[in-house]
Amino acid sequence: MLVTGIEILRHAHENNYAVGAFNVNNMEIVQAIIEAAEETNSPVILQASQGGLKYAGVEYIAALGKLAAHKAKVPVALHLDHGTNFQQIMLCIRHGFSSVMIDGSKYGLEENIAITKKVIEVAHAVGVSVEAELGKIGGTEDDIVVDEREATFTDPKEAKIFVDETNVDYLAVAVGTAHGVYKGEPELDFDRIKTIKEMVNIPLVLHGSSGVPDESIKRAVSLGINKINIDTDLRIAFATAIKDFLADNPDNIDPRKILGPAKKAMKEVIKKKMELFGSVGRA
Ligand code: G3H
Ligand code: 13P
Ligand code: ZN
Repeated sequence: MLVTGIEILRHAHENNYAVGAFNVNNMEIVQAIIEAAEETNSPVILQASQGGLKYAGVEYIAALGKLAAHKAKVPVALHLDHGTNFQQIMLCIRHGFSSVMIDGSKYGLEENIAITKKVIEVAHAVGVSVEAELGKIGGTEDDIVVDEREATFTDPKEAKIFVDETNVDYLAVAVGTAHGVYKGEPELDFDRIKTIKEMVNIPLVLHGSSGVPDESIKRAVSLGINKINIDTDLRIAFATAIKDFLADNPDNIDPRKILGPAKKAMKEVIKKKMELFGSVGRA
């Protein structure tokens, strides 16, 4: 069933576990996620990035996501990932997304608060929940020096002001993760997660969660992370399975035979993540 993001994440917040938010770009990825969620009885979030919307188009993503959610035996939210444009966010809401992200992280605090409030006013009026971001979750440049890196992290005092002023449903925090493939091992600032959680007391979101060691993910969840974004680990599973299949079957030209193993490989990765996040059996 299609539900709002906050319906899923409030339960996770109150019961101290996290729900996976997996990036979707095509039918096979959607099916892999939904099958994994149903087989583990786990709530789940399907999310579309800027790249995903550009690739598939909002109509296709919305139709696929809504069909999958309506057919699913578990709660599913359809979420816009890293929305930055008010018009696009409204378009997604109009197409039936049940959750949207307004990523104002490139702005200063006041401007981020202002654009987040603008989105929330409309989204909440039509029952759609909202994620915002405070601090900067970057790419994987590891040549950035520690002081500069920490300067981009979420400030707990600012987080409190931000949440009080915006009434945002869940907040993405910058605590040491980065999008894409890590060059070294990511170091998370666990004390910062704990402090932010104590100060804001709402579901927290971890971006750039692919490639983060399992023990770090577990600790982050125990300290208050409730939504965990995964894209790169699915891309790796997808591409590796296709390369392996074609290496073994160089003459095969059937898209179903080529994509079948990729879907299965993604599903296995997703099920393991669901176990790690603690969402298994929570549907
Ligand atoms: O947040 C970023 C995601 O990994 C999606 O990236 O815009 O290339 O789909 P994308
Ligand atoms: P990864 O690609 O590093 O898993 O990050 C995904 C993400 O944060 C999407 O918003
Ligand atoms: Zn992200």
